[in-house]
Amino acid sequence: MVAKLLDGKKLAMEIRTHLKQRVQELKQKGVTPKLVVILVGNDSASRIYVRNKHRAAQKIGIETKDIELPQEITENELLAYVKKYNEDDSVHGILVQLPLPAQINAEKITHAIAPAKDVDGFHPVNIGHLFMNDPHALPCTPHGIMQFFKKYNISLMGKHAVIVGRSNIVGRPMAAMMLNNDATVTITHSKTKNLSELTRQADILIAAIGQAEFIKKTDVKPGAVVIDVGMNRNDKGKLVGDVDQKEVAEVASYLTPVPGGVGPMTIAMLMEQTVKFAERGVQ
Ligand code: GUN
Repeated sequence: MVAKLLDGKKLAMEIRTHLKQRVQELKQKGVTPKLVVILVGNDSASRIYVRNKHRAAQKIGIETKDIELPQEITENELLAYVKKYNEDDSVHGILVQLPLPAQINAEKITHAIAPAKDVDGFHPVNIGHLFMNDPHALPCTPHGIMQFFKKYNISLMGKHAVIVGRSNIVGRPMAAMMLNNDATVTITHSKTKNLSELTRQADILIAAIGQAEFIKKTDVKPGAVVIDVGMNRNDKGKLVGDVDQKEVAEVASYLTPVPGGVGPMTIAMLMEQTVKFAERGVQ
């Protein structure tokens, strides 16, 4: 079997084109969606992510305000920024780029963002709604992955989904979304015993581990759908996923490439959520 590639770049473009239309309609009603992106310090990867979010927003017509703050900022100073934009009615979404410097408790910051403006979907109130199958705001990466299943008519009902990784950003919310769509879900992680035995049972395998090319052909059931969330540099400095793409493409039915798979979908979903928040209350 040679896997069909799930083209995230193409799907994200389709979604963004549709969003552009929704933004036009909002503007005709006097509302411009506005996203505040707060970046603390000099993390080079974070800088690139923030720049990409800014560019995507611009293309769609979403207004962005990028706030760049110094590495030494105190928790209280950062909280004051969050509070300011929570109270600003012209702002629909607030995102604080992670990771944050060591002196700041990231959880405290995430929890301070108003749930109604939480475009990342990280606030415990929003996570709670998601787990109760009453989603309000959704974490963008797993939400983006769900769009592949929709687009390619991959039904989750009764399927065994195995997720490798239990992060708050991907693994856990991914499990809730798949459960909400009637999959049988197994979450695995670094302490899981006999990991390969479990991954080989997966009809749908989500790799969100953060280790270069960790999932090999022998970890995958022939015909499985494989989603690669990884973004790692290998020994040669090349950007690679959590899946050994070359090997796994020989056995999977569908596979998301890296780059051009999950990554572009994350940004598209961030834009979608910002537009959705701006549409609230507009007749
Ligand atoms: N850092 C890595 N991924 C993300 C994300 O989705 N949102 C935020 N705010 N920070 C991140």
